[in-house]
Amino acid sequence: MHEPNETNLALAANLIKKGELVAFPTETVYGLGANGLDAKACQKIYQAKGRPSDNPLILHVADKAMAKTLVASLPPEAEKLMDTFWPGALTLVLKKADHIPLVVSAGLDTVALRCPDNPIALALIQASGVPLAAPSANKSTRPSPTKASHVATDFGEDDIFILDGGDCTIGVESTILDLSVNPPVILRPGGVSKEALEKVIGEVGIYTSKTPEVPKAPGMKYRHYAPHMPVYLVAENQFEPLLNQLKTTEKTGFIFSEEKLARLKIHFSKGVFLSLGQKAELEIATQRLYRHLREADSLDLEVIYLESYPKEGLGLALMNRIDKLSSPYIVKEEEA
Ligand code: TXA
Ligand code: MG
Repeated sequence: MHEPNETNLALAANLIKKGELVAFPTETVYGLGANGLDAKACQKIYQAKGRPSDNPLILHVADKAMAKTLVASLPPEAEKLMDTFWPGALTLVLKKADHIPLVVSAGLDTVALRCPDNPIALALIQASGVPLAAPSANKSTRPSPTKASHVATDFGEDDIFILDGGDCTIGVESTILDLSVNPPVILRPGGVSKEALEKVIGEVGIYTSKTPEVPKAPGMKYRHYAPHMPVYLVAENQFEPLLNQLKTTEKTGFIFSEEKLARLKIHFSKGVFLSLGQKAELEIATQRLYRHLREADSLDLEVIYLESYPKEGLGLALMNRIDKLSSPYIVKEEEA
């Protein structure tokens, strides 16, 4: 792992120019970057991650001017959103320019663009002089990395040049908004909420499998973010039954808010207790979710119980990830 000083940034930019991969921090999660205009370099991303080839990549740009060079045209709503939310956790899907390699768009006629709100990421894009194609820097299906050491765990420090920018501040991936359809549709909820988007461009839809006219973000159909052990999502009304039913061991993990952890700790003498912060502080919960899932892996826990949050604002982004990696905890009638 490399400190992001001038020398290392120059080294990293050189690797990008030579068609190699570099892992870098963003405000959401770490990215595994390659020259987004070099098809061979982008191919290496799929190989390194074990990523299915029908799952397109996001191009990370330094600013709106760079974004303009990558699209067929820039609709006024796109420009408004860029002016309001960039740099930031908003990825825009737009009709692509002809010169975008097919491996980036996975054969679609659109391209996903994002300007990350992280000085190291921006410096790397600028020094490389090209947009960086970058998915999250984890092996496919693993929780996304929110620290440089997570990237090193998945890929090995020797194999990939990793710029260490400390902890990611948001901790879950960006919001993806498809602007190639009318009205625009959120394909993946993230750091920028539906409400915030609607203030700028009016009505915005949210993708569900019942919106067939919109092709969903191809990546959303794959199993994601999962640690190695079973994860059970504990709905509010299942919390008391959980307290009454469960027998724990040293290998039982709890990922809950401070409020719930206080009660769990009184009830269970054995277990690993990982805090998502105060229940009302959703930014802390999103910041810590992936870190705790990876911690559960490294402690070799046998099972995890996880708290459920209301699907509003940032809670929508949090629960989108949680629903994908967990199954509901339900106490059987005869046990209750
Ligand atoms: O916060 C983020 O977005 C992070 C950081 C590194 O920027 N990146 C990230 O990339 O989450 P990745 O590859 O893990 O997820 C990208 C998602 C996938 O679900 C993919 O299918 C979707 O974006 N996507 C990319 N291009 C698309 C397109 N043209 N149309 C629809 N979905 C697209
Ligand atoms: Mg990912």
